[in-house]
Amino acid sequence: MKTEILQANEENIVKCAEFIKNGGIVAFPTETVYGLGACAFDEKATEKIFVAKGRPATNPLIIHVSEKSQIDTVAEVSEQARRLIDALMPGAFTLVLPKKSIVPSIVTAGFDTVAVRMPDHEVALALINAVGKPICAPSANSSARPSPTTAMHVYEDLCGNIPYILDGGKCPFGVESTIIDMTRTPPKVLRAGSVDISRVEDIIGEIDKSSMIIDQLADSKTPMNFMPRAELTFSAYYEGMDRTICEYYDSLSKQGRKPIIFCLSKNASLYGDRRVMEMGKTVKEYASRLFETVREAERTYDSIIAEGVPFGGIGTTLLARLMKMSNGNVI
Ligand code: TXA
Ligand code: MG
Repeated sequence: MKTEILQANEENIVKCAEFIKNGGIVAFPTETVYGLGACAFDEKATEKIFVAKGRPATNPLIIHVSEKSQIDTVAEVSEQARRLIDALMPGAFTLVLPKKSIVPSIVTAGFDTVAVRMPDHEVALALINAVGKPICAPSANSSARPSPTTAMHVYEDLCGNIPYILDGGKCPFGVESTIIDMTRTPPKVLRAGSVDISRVEDIIGEIDKSSMIIDQLADSKTPMNFMPRAELTFSAYYEGMDRTICEYYDSLSKQGRKPIIFCLSKNASLYGDRRVMEMGKTVKEYASRLFETVREAERTYDSIIAEGVPFGGIGTTLLARLMKMSNGNVI
């Protein structure tokens, strides 16, 4: 199959929407990462997503809507969930809610709950609008690869497996949505993501944050589900972590390995003439560049040593992704 990258203009959005309406699948940008979408009510089309990504059928998909009212068609919305939807959608967060029977069980992998989100991205919203129905979509990477934050990343992973990639440029957040399970009391964070949990707690009060670093998603028991090709290690955050990172870098170099350090720009000079990739000025920039920098680094280096950051806010999300990609390999 030929894979075409289409600029996300009005004409191509309509073309892709028609394609989805006729049972096709299309990769599209959101504010978090690229998704691979099908009509959420079309079982055959949804099956194509699992095949294209090599995704286990046990791992459910998120339903994406362009209107808040569409959420009520696919899920039971509690009063508490309604408050979050009113205040935070569209936005980079996903609610897990009791599913309605209209949603095929392939979408939810047989669970009686469904994950729903309304992306805050012009192209994603226009595409869903043009389809006229919700779109189910996982991230548009092949399984076991980091989520794609550009159309080129999708192409690298899924070329030959999908016909169209709508290119809307780089995803502004570069990290997946925050996922909250509203079917538990209190609600529980299943995945730390782009939206700070404190914004959710401001609206519905305290929620269960016990699994912020090691996610509690439906697929979290799949081992090594997120491995970059270069071995990733990260440092705990403390005064003097640069010295530990330098020692580890030097020991890898002595073994003939090719390491690279991911660091905040302000720390780059601490590593002398060792090779570094600067991740920006802030933890937020660091998080948004993580996936693309991993993809870039693994072309040249065989070991990535990432600086740790303080716990809290987007820092927690970044630590969660480092934890996952390193398989818990902390120095
Ligand atoms: O930002 C995002 O959330 C992106 C964009 C494309 O929207 N999507 C995304 O989808 O990251 P995916 O499939 O890569 O991650 C969704 C996660 C999966 O780990 C899945 O197991 C979990 O959400 N999930 C989906 N439905 C669930 C449910 N009913 N209960 C528990 N976990 C669920
Ligand atoms: Mg994913």
